[in-house]
Amino acid sequence: MKSEIIFDNGKHKWIAIGRDPDKNQNVIDTNEYLIIDSDTKGMILDPGGIEIFASVLVETSKYILPENIEKMLVSHQDPDIASSLALWVNMNETMEVYCSWLWAGFISHFSMGTDFSFSTLPDEGKDIYLGTSKLTFVPAHYCHSSGNFSLYDHTANILFSGDVGAALVPDSDYSLIVEDFEKHIQYMEGFHKRWMPSKTALHAWVNRVRLLKPDMICPQHGSIFKGNDVDKFLNWLESIEVGIW
Ligand SMILES: [Fe+2]
Ligand SMILES: [Fe+2]
Repeated sequence: MKSEIIFDNGKHKWIAIGRDPDKNQNVIDTNEYLIIDSDTKGMILDPGGIEIFASVLVETSKYILPENIEKMLVSHQDPDIASSLALWVNMNETMEVYCSWLWAGFISHFSMGTDFSFSTLPDEGKDIYLGTSKLTFVPAHYCHSSGNFSLYDHTANILFSGDVGAALVPDSDYSLIVEDFEKHIQYMEGFHKRWMPSKTALHAWVNRVRLLKPDMICPQHGSIFKGNDVDKFLNWLESIEVGIW
């Protein structure tokens, strides 16, 4: 598995983790993101499946002690998002785990008997702080899950988009940042048409994100949209038909 710092202002960092050539080929490739504020305050965004827990832990440990990962986002209920949940919580029992109120009872089936409860998010989202940095949970319901959140980091001006923007890229050498947006579309198209059920929901999400004007949009699969590609990506999302197969 590889990791790369994608934002660093000296006090606040984002690390992207993914592209694992050694993973079991039956599991879908995922990106995990680690935010670190003031060196010792960590948050992991969609930590991934139980299959890849050890590899993700090794990568995060290069940047922060596991016990300092004090927060986690579980954007929605899928196993590739957080079937590793119990293993993370076992390392730090005081970890705050955020998920939609809608899914808490379901995702708790991944807790493997650990004694913790979710910090549930209301449908409209909310603001939290990691150290001194403000983070906002942005509603992404029906994109694709019925209770789903993106996360916007005000300090880094980065949006974590979960499965929105997901791409099934051809191999583990494919670039982490999108290099040619037009060529990248082929890897996103099928995923969005099948997995996004609602054009109305997708357009509402695009409108919310346009107001934030992020420098980067970071999906849970595929590659990161940066600079001019952010607008190209949002325009593309508005142009596609979804909920079809
Ligand atoms: Fe998903
Ligand atoms: Fe996913």
